[in-house]
Amino acid sequence: MADLSLRKVKKVYDNTVVAVQAFDLEIADKEFIVLVGPSGCGKSTTLRMVAGLEEITEGEIYIGGRKVNTVPPKDRDIAMVFQNYALYPHMTVYDNIAYGLKLRKFPKRVIDQKVREAAEILDISELLKRKPKALSGGQRQRVAIGRAIVREPQVFLMDEPLSNLDAKLRNQMRSEIIKLRQKVNTTFIYVTHDQTEAMTLGDRIVIMREGFVQQVGTPQEVFHHPANLFVAGFIGTPQMNIFDAQLVREGETYFVEAGNARVKLSPEKTARLLSADVDSQPVKLGLRPEHLTLTEEENAISATVDVSEMMGSAVHIHVNACGQDVVVVVPLGEEEEDGSLPMGKPVRLTFRGSAAHVFDVETGHNLEYPQPKEQIAEPPAEEPESPETPAQEPEPPAEPQPEPVPEPQPPAPPYPAGLDSTEKIIAETVAEAMNDPFTE
Ligand SMILES: Nc1ncnc2c1ncn2[C@@H]1O[C@H](COP(=O)(O)OP(=O)(O)OP(=O)(O)O)[C@@H](O)[C@H]1O
Ligand SMILES: [Mg+2]
Repeated sequence: MADLSLRKVKKVYDNTVVAVQAFDLEIADKEFIVLVGPSGCGKSTTLRMVAGLEEITEGEIYIGGRKVNTVPPKDRDIAMVFQNYALYPHMTVYDNIAYGLKLRKFPKRVIDQKVREAAEILDISELLKRKPKALSGGQRQRVAIGRAIVREPQVFLMDEPLSNLDAKLRNQMRSEIIKLRQKVNTTFIYVTHDQTEAMTLGDRIVIMREGFVQQVGTPQEVFHHPANLFVAGFIGTPQMNIFDAQLVREGETYFVEAGNARVKLSPEKTARLLSADVDSQPVKLGLRPEHLTLTEEENAISATVDVSEMMGSAVHIHVNACGQDVVVVVPLGEEEEDGSLPMGKPVRLTFRGSAAHVFDVETGHNLEYPQPKEQIAEPPAEEPESPETPAQEPEPPAEPQPEPVPEPQPPAPPYPAGLDSTEKIIAETVAEAMNDPFTE
């Protein structure tokens, strides 16, 4: 258990690649923080600096009030779960979990108790005698987490721990992590590029882009009050629709105009815009698909139906409005069998003044929340896509080991031919596990 403080942390690789900049964050004891953002935005780098696996170029990191910039990983009292599990294939589940404690010369009795407790928490007590090869992906994942739990670290770091799993298992493991969090009283920093994971797990979410923090907030805050267009597009599925629109100020009242719609903004939004003294101007208007409704009124955005996607509890209607693709989520009642609309049908869309997000055309900032200049990254040139599963970067070169270390290798697979994909994953990660920086 510990609080963490990251102060103006910066990482430059090889004097050229700026991976993380001006990273400022205070993390409370036992808080669950999620770092989220597209591939290459600096999530792993940030986590690895906290772990001590990566040197900090500038700034300071404190764990439990202690500055750890130069403290080696093993003395930081943290445990890290890597994306690729890194289990020892020749050891049983029991030995995999116990290994770090054995290295630290814990008494056998204590080790046994801790391993069994962890297995209980993770619901893998039945599997303790098996080897990793005989486990499913989710079970292997739990063993990797078990190995971290028994260390009872002050801080738990997890780097995309679920990204190797299929969608169903990922959902299941996500709820396991929520349960785990309730049982293990520790501070968590969790990295993912999946906004759903971020929204469901985090007490607070840190959204990153190109090395810069874009916004820090609770899931509700970042969803309802996105700091800029990037956050607006990244958080929430389907993505927020963005229209070219006009913000109109009339005394103490604001309207947004898009298509033929003219909608008065809610009192809360009006108050924030007034306090920032925002004037009439062209804006990017953000409207979430679930906040658009079909209407018969004239005061509305005209659109034409493209396709309807039946999702079960709702229909996602893709329409063309103001020359662009727009998605409208129409919830379905129990009795309604089909809410889809025929292609080419003209429809009209409306929205409430509390659902409208207005962003600066140039900078992409939410006009309700003026931001300090240095936090500003360029507005996205294109809509953020759902990020693909990223390739995990290799671990850093290990400390000199007593075992004979092979010569620097060409990128040939470090496993014999004929292994199935599971075995390959295990084989690839053994070397990394053997050099566990947190236990040696
Ligand atoms: N060892 C390294 N040497 C040079 N550049 C690196 C190194 N590791 C990462 N980078 C670069 O730093 C930036 C941030 O990388 P990082 O691994 O932190 O991203 P990430 O957000 O974790 O992405 P992903 O979702 O793909 O894992 C990227 O531009 C990456 O290419
Ligand atoms: Mg990463």
